[in-house]
Amino acid sequence: MIIAIDGPAAAGKGTLARRLAAHFGLNYLDTGALYRAVGWAVVRAKGDPADPVAAEAAARALDPAGLSSPDLRTETAGQAASKVAAIPAVRAALLEFQRAYATRAPGAVLDGRDIGTVVCPAAEVKLFITASVECRAARRLKELLDKGESAIGERVLEEMRERDARDRARSVAPLVPAADAVVLDTTELNAEAAFAKAVAIISERRPAG
Ligand code: CDP
Repeated sequence: MIIAIDGPAAAGKGTLARRLAAHFGLNYLDTGALYRAVGWAVVRAKGDPADPVAAEAAARALDPAGLSSPDLRTETAGQAASKVAAIPAVRAALLEFQRAYATRAPGAVLDGRDIGTVVCPAAEVKLFITASVECRAARRLKELLDKGESAIGERVLEEMRERDARDRARSVAPLVPAADAVVLDTTELNAEAAFAKAVAIISERRPAG
């Protein structure tokens, strides 16, 4: 079984996807980490993440072993990720890895922006997780402060708006719910309630056996 989880930044996809994978006994892939790793590699080499040549070279050289580095979770890496993510050659370079991962037994939960629309259009279950931009910025701010980073609420909100706009407006694989996705708005739901709703939706739709 493949479960596709898409949605904008800080909607709670990662936490939810990880818990769903554990609950249903599936593999889990955070596809945002792939784009973050590519963006971060370009920034670290003092390149411009919007430069298609540098970004494609970084995507082709990507080593999935480094995907859990804390450097990838910074706002700098997030902004760089959304710039490299708008480059078609970068998306093409990462597509095969994601598809191969998704189809490996026993199946997987993938979270990102285009899993239900492009990477796994045949996924058995597609969820589109969203929340108001103010709520998402507040969650991201808390996450940063909890990690001991200094962050200003207004700046986090502004960066989230910028990243949302870039992800929605790009011509290749824009952030949009698949026609057959179930939209789950978590503005008024805590992580526990969102998980319970998602389990109910998946249990209803998953193939028997
Ligand atoms: O954790 P957060 O929701 O802030 O972001 P993320 O899921 O780690 O993704 C970082 C950036 O990568 C996004 O803003 C997208 O531009 C890009 N991305 C994408 O284009 N396609 C995906 N499947 C996953 C991420």
